[in-house]
Amino acid sequence: MLSFLLVTLWLISSVWSAPGDFLPESALGSDAAQANYYWSFWQEGGGSHNCNNGAGGSYTAKWSGGGGFVCGKGWSPGGSRTVKYSGTYHPTGPGYLSLYGWTRNPLVEYYIVDAHGDLTPGEPWTARGNFTADGEGTYLLYTSTRVNKPSIVGTATFQQFWSVRADQRVGGTITTSKHFDAWARAGMRLGAHDYMILATEGYTAAGGGGSSGNASITLE
Ligand SMILES: *[C@@H]1O[C@H](CO)[C@@H](O)[C@H](O)[C@H]1NC(C)=O
Ligand SMILES: *[C@@H]1O[C@H](CO)[C@@H](O)[C@H](O)[C@H]1NC(C)=O
Repeated sequence: MLSFLLVTLWLISSVWSAPGDFLPESALGSDAAQANYYWSFWQEGGGSHNCNNGAGGSYTAKWSGGGGFVCGKGWSPGGSRTVKYSGTYHPTGPGYLSLYGWTRNPLVEYYIVDAHGDLTPGEPWTARGNFTADGEGTYLLYTSTRVNKPSIVGTATFQQFWSVRADQRVGGTITTSKHFDAWARAGMRLGAHDYMILATEGYTAAGGGGSSGNASITLE
């Protein structure tokens, strides 16, 4: 009976985000080239989530099954920066390849999504128009609200900001200030920057399937 209960609880927690801190396993890399970058790897629930901090600006990810994860390389703090990256990304099921980060006061989790698997957000997205980042593509803007979910300050209620590239790509240039300015024009206010990474994320849709895939990403 107890084991049945535990399995049931595990299944529930692997489908819906378990409460808990979004404090990633993170560190500056241990070799001289890695040390130029911030590395972050967070995961929850079941499933197999393998993220490897590679040399310099590179990392790889391979995942399957339930639960969810976010991993990637970048900077702490993030902020205005021209990010150039290249690589490969093969997702099945829900997931994103994005420039991803957090701000505090207000607490915001943001995504500049260049490519994705199934788009099945956990919360409804509200459309906020679109904008063209000069030379970098057109992105559609959305906001959503997470209620009592994992965050960098523990379980909290906060906004998510989204720029989703109209034409998906893997590799290119993202000038973050172009997005931050477009968000400000749409009334989407960021706080003080915490970390920012070029992230691979996979997750489990409510009531549905997990995700699988692989990615190999290099910051230039
Ligand atoms: C961007 O917004 C404009 C104005 O609302 C609209 O005409 C256009 O179709 C939108 N573009 C995309 C890619 O959704
Ligand atoms: C990555 O996924 C693609 C598509 O499923 C597959 O063809 C490829 O072999 C995978 N690569 C690795 C390194 O697992």
